[in-house]
Amino acid sequence: MQRCDTLIRGATVIDGTGGPAVRADVALADGRIAAVGALDPRAWRADDVRDAAGLALCPGFVDVHTHDDTSVIRTPDLWPKLSQGVTTVIVGNCGVSAAPVRLRGEPPDPMNLLGRAEDFRYPTFASYREAVAAARPAVNVAALVGHTALRANHMDRLDRAATAEEVAAMRAELRDALAGGALGLSTGLAYANACHAPTAEVMALAEPLAEAGALYATHVRSEFAEILAALDEAVRVGRHARVPVAVSHLKCAGPENWGRSGEVLAALDAARRAHAVGWDCYPYAAGSSTLDLAQVTDRHEITVTWSDPHPEMGGQSLAEIAAAWRTTLVEAARRLQPAGAIYHAMSEADVRRILRHPATVIGSDGLPNDPRPHPRLWGAFPRVLGHYCRELGLFPLTEAVHKMTGLSARRFGLAGRGEVRAGYWADLVLFDPAAVRDVATYADPRRPAAGIAAVWVNGVPSSRDQTPTGERGGRFVARGPR
Ligand code: ZN
Ligand code: CU
Repeated sequence: MQRCDTLIRGATVIDGTGGPAVRADVALADGRIAAVGALDPRAWRADDVRDAAGLALCPGFVDVHTHDDTSVIRTPDLWPKLSQGVTTVIVGNCGVSAAPVRLRGEPPDPMNLLGRAEDFRYPTFASYREAVAAARPAVNVAALVGHTALRANHMDRLDRAATAEEVAAMRAELRDALAGGALGLSTGLAYANACHAPTAEVMALAEPLAEAGALYATHVRSEFAEILAALDEAVRVGRHARVPVAVSHLKCAGPENWGRSGEVLAALDAARRAHAVGWDCYPYAAGSSTLDLAQVTDRHEITVTWSDPHPEMGGQSLAEIAAAWRTTLVEAARRLQPAGAIYHAMSEADVRRILRHPATVIGSDGLPNDPRPHPRLWGAFPRVLGHYCRELGLFPLTEAVHKMTGLSARRFGLAGRGEVRAGYWADLVLFDPAAVRDVATYADPRRPAAGIAAVWVNGVPSSRDQTPTGERGGRFVARGPR
């Protein structure tokens, strides 16, 4: 007689590799997957037996692009993520991370997406790692180190290139974080506090990544007309540093750029033949970040989600606010600062073409501190399964799962995760393929998904029938071999 903690019986197992679904039983023991297959009921004893007939069982989703850095500690139930079936979040994207950070005053834009000055309490990467472990979040946490965060630690002003001494200090700090398990370096070169960094600064900073087996993730310098040059820069940095490149939230932004996704993907495919390049995408035709004066336009809708001086304007369009104030869009945006926004800046056809590409993995880019968040915070993964896979038939279910699990874990170096396989960590989600869907909308964004039956994190039963169990099984996940 074999003992296990949990036995999931008769599920349609989608293992995360992209291979075919099979009907199987899965046994969980000591946080890991103990066995997968037709398990003899007389040979296995479990405290908890779950009949999963008619449901799909797959690896827990890996949200490769998040800004959950401080929320994994401040709100460790992480219900926006767990309720979607997400079992691992990667934080520290777009050049902004909670660690290592030593602020003088308020966080520079867009580090303010992660919280206020008092939320940045992690002067070293090790102190962040300890804080995550102590918080016992509901999902696993792996972390990148942000270039803008390093700049803010070592530079008196951010509207210039770093000096050689400053780059050396940033590199030493990055090395320390890599030794502590960081996945790699992220940049947000489109943002005002990083865009003055020349390519040479980023190349020099990226040099320690290779010996650690880490990667370079980037919100590229432009997602608008200059996107090809920006992607070329990203690939050059990766080649210089001899590390894989992960382009964040790949998109063709701005109406003048719509329809270029074929050209963009062709350029990336060409780059991929000579170097490891991947990218992530969120399944929506609108983006969200801080309200950026450079992105203010009358060619598509911009919704203000928050504003420090004018919180009452949250939820209104920038055009409405400007009209009420009898001023221009740019002047209205200036008066709202600091503020957040949703930009309806993409074409649906481009989003679909990018989602469909075999190298695309899914990341939510959700903003947990936004009082009126973009619905991707609560809906990204079920939206891929429901809207894009089941309703639109963009890809088979096995491929949708692969883009959110096995491919993601391999790309980011999350060893022992992302597949339903004996010996792997028991990060699992059980869902109804006929019913799974995103419920969150732009008008009503804080709504958990439908159709997620149960979630296990490191074998811990974490949610059942869209109710958290109250047990939180997440861990800090250090970089593993890719
Ligand atoms: Zn970004
Ligand atoms: Cu981001």
